[in-house]
Amino acid sequence: MTKLYFGGDYNPEQWSPEVWKEDVALMRQAGVNLVTVGVFAWSSLEPEPGRYEFGWLDQVMDLLHEGGVQVDLATPTASPPPWFGLRHPDALPVNASGVRLTHGSRDTYCACAPAYREAAVGIAKALGERYAEHPALAMWHVHNEYGTTCHCDHAAAAFRRWLQHRYGELDRLNAAWTTAFWSQGYADWEEIQPPRTTQYLVNPTQALDFRRFWSDELLEAFREQKAVLRGLTPKLPITTNFVFGGWVPVDHSRWGSEVDLVAIDHYPGSAGRGAEEQTAFGADLARSWAGGKSWLLMEQAAGSVNDGHRLHTKEPGRMARHSLSHLARGSRGALFFQWRASRGGAEMFHSAMVPHAGPDSRRFREIAEFGTALPRLAELDGSEVEAEVAILWDAEAWWVMQATHLPSEDLDYLTAVQAAHRQFWTAGIGVDLAGPGADLSAYRVVVVPSLYLVSDAAAESIARYVEGGGHLLVTYFSGIVDQDAQVRLGGYPGAFRDVLGIRVEEFHPVAEVELASGGRGGLWSEHVHLAGAEAVDRYAGGVLDGSPAITRHEYGEGVAWYVSTQLDDAGYGELVGQVVRGAGVAQPGLPAGVEVVRRKAEQVTWTVLINHSEEDVAIPVTGFELLSGVEVVSPLRLAAGAQAVVRA
Ligand code: GAL
Repeated sequence: MTKLYFGGDYNPEQWSPEVWKEDVALMRQAGVNLVTVGVFAWSSLEPEPGRYEFGWLDQVMDLLHEGGVQVDLATPTASPPPWFGLRHPDALPVNASGVRLTHGSRDTYCACAPAYREAAVGIAKALGERYAEHPALAMWHVHNEYGTTCHCDHAAAAFRRWLQHRYGELDRLNAAWTTAFWSQGYADWEEIQPPRTTQYLVNPTQALDFRRFWSDELLEAFREQKAVLRGLTPKLPITTNFVFGGWVPVDHSRWGSEVDLVAIDHYPGSAGRGAEEQTAFGADLARSWAGGKSWLLMEQAAGSVNDGHRLHTKEPGRMARHSLSHLARGSRGALFFQWRASRGGAEMFHSAMVPHAGPDSRRFREIAEFGTALPRLAELDGSEVEAEVAILWDAEAWWVMQATHLPSEDLDYLTAVQAAHRQFWTAGIGVDLAGPGADLSAYRVVVVPSLYLVSDAAAESIARYVEGGGHLLVTYFSGIVDQDAQVRLGGYPGAFRDVLGIRVEEFHPVAEVELASGGRGGLWSEHVHLAGAEAVDRYAGGVLDGSPAITRHEYGEGVAWYVSTQLDDAGYGELVGQVVRGAGVAQPGLPAGVEVVRRKAEQVTWTVLINHSEEDVAIPVTGFELLSGVEVVSPLRLAAGAQAVVRA
């Protein structure tokens, strides 16, 4: 692949052939070179069981090819047609309360139902056979956002098979699930159910295993389609779009090696500066799922950010800044949901590259401006994103922290990880996200935010990292439980006591807490005893008055820091500053709101600068600026909202 991709989801089945022609003309104007076609087109492709209607798609594929636009052809298996559910009522999903859902939205299937799996492979095969040789076909997009689960009897049977494979013996399952508590001991595999709605709290290990099971089960479903498509088109890349959300039981770090190109959808959940930080976080996470290689931003919103309550229109330039942040952090392009805003249907007010107003609009002009500038950045592809810091991220640790009845309902894994990421984003220090158990030796600093669940092997590798000279920062509520979600006894954080040189006797969830230095924390505090570490800061006032809040421990050749509360951003930023200074990580000291990413190849480096602030700034950088095509000499003047990519 030698070019960067620009385009989005294209749903021609919603429009007449006259519109298709206009679409292709506008795509050319906007620099679009890749569109995802057919994601939700199953009922248009197979209106009755076994009767295929490919004529319209033939025409669309031909038109796109003539227009120089390549196709990422989707299998439409995320939305079976109405006839499917009527024919196979057992393949409609059942929620945790036993309610069977009916057709009327999307994602209405149980991926464990044999009829669904067969139909999914069937439509993938039909598409593969029809279009294998089509010159527009560049990539396969299997399904859409794997993550939909079900609690039906098919799912229960598959869950039991998965558990038998994981535990072998029922005794081992009973021990891992602590079934002695509340008389849950199982005497027969058949007694085990998915975690359905029950009287009171659900067994947390059962709930965790159900999510692990679904990640594996959905992966199997993906592999079945992949095998069919691979057989028909051995040379074409096959991917699926990863989605990031609290409901998603898919461990993308494990799925990353199953796709030919990691692709993500990214919709920040906050407006304002939070959207910029989340964009950078999502992009860094995608790169970690891709094992450090490049990946693809498959979907983002062209014109809005949704904070969960309402859409916030992206101000002029913001779409381009978000897109560049993704590109800087390793994306091979910028794609959107969707090309043309729908006239009706559930998402008709979702923004699009061609809005309801049509091409005579700010939105389309910005799209065309960015799309036609993109080829100037193609040389970035394949270079490495520089990062001396890693933040640990683990899907299982996230899932298990969604259990009920943790010591505080406000504990939130994603918030903790994003708070860590934000400190480095603000300081302009590049970070990778890494899975626990990853080889950390290349990093000067490793941050472990609220890693409640950690396996023995991962804890061991973190300790070895510090022993070998690494600088570690662990935050509150980490290392508490093992892979079975059982507490590591003898004082928290059981997995990290030695390396941190501390022992935590008790948790003290709080609203707010003051520190002796004048700093402030919130949410959480802990009764920390020193066991080799020194206290860097202490609690001031309250029940923990005078006891250690932040500690530092020299261990082997390295240093391990612990912070037992959720510091506010000012305090967290200062702590991170201390840790990175001690580790010898360079701090660029850029003006507030300026995002920086550094890329390198053998002899060349690139500095990507994005000015999210409302001030014009001057940055000390010299080299060739790719977007404007001119040499720049330090200091580079970057206007409010502007961006630059400087090669040196
Ligand atoms: C994505 C999904 C798209 C569309 C979009 C709207 O998650 O893949 O089909 O629904 O969200 O934001």
